[in-house]
Amino acid sequence: MLVRQMEAADHDAVLALNQGALDGVGPLTAEKLQEIVGYAEQSVVSTDGEGALAGFALTLPPGTPYDSLNYRWYVDQYEADDFAYLDRVVVAPEFRRRGVGTLLYNVLEERARARELMALEVYVEPPNEPSLAFHRGRGYTEVGRLDQPNGKKVAMLVKRVG
Ligand SMILES: CC(C)(COP(=O)(O)OP(=O)(O)OC[C@H]1O[C@@H](n2cnc3c(N)ncnc32)[C@H](O)[C@@H]1OP(=O)(O)O)[C@@H](O)C(=O)NCCC(=O)NCCS
Repeated sequence: MLVRQMEAADHDAVLALNQGALDGVGPLTAEKLQEIVGYAEQSVVSTDGEGALAGFALTLPPGTPYDSLNYRWYVDQYEADDFAYLDRVVVAPEFRRRGVGTLLYNVLEERARARELMALEVYVEPPNEPSLAFHRGRGYTEVGRLDQPNGKKVAMLVKRVG
């Protein structure tokens, strides 16, 4: 298993992975993915020995025009703080619980050390139990909750990485 930079040739597989995980992440179109990658500080994929996509993740720095409600919440709340916003992470169902998320986060958090915080959100109503367990285990703590336009609620989680 390795982690490398996401390339344009990965986008179709990344989209498919995202659209298969809509209980945990927001929907994406090819255009939206392109836009987010354009803002991203880190856009990474994890692949297995045969090159199959096992997972991907995207982080954004503060100060981009990204229109996500959750990202804008961090921009407003953490005005004076420097954060890396983890927009989304998805591990392919057949690769879950095999350390792929851990591998991706080890890379993301290490590379985000120039910033103070890693910041993200996880659904709590209804709860995304695997993601909550994963992030709790990595030391993320809740700093707020936010209603979503889809009627769900997220917990805003941060971890000091700097
Ligand atoms: C959340 C997610 C990224 C975790 O990725 P993963 O590769 O399965 O995680 P790892 O194998 O590295 O797990 C590390 C630890 O997290 C915890 N964990 C992960 N999945 C868990 C689950 N389903 N139930 C309980 N604990 C879990 C465990 O402590 C695990 O360690 P262990 O397997 O040694 O017990 C993955 O479940 C996923 O892609 N979910 C769908 C998309 C999503 O919800 N993304 C997050 C949006 S906030």
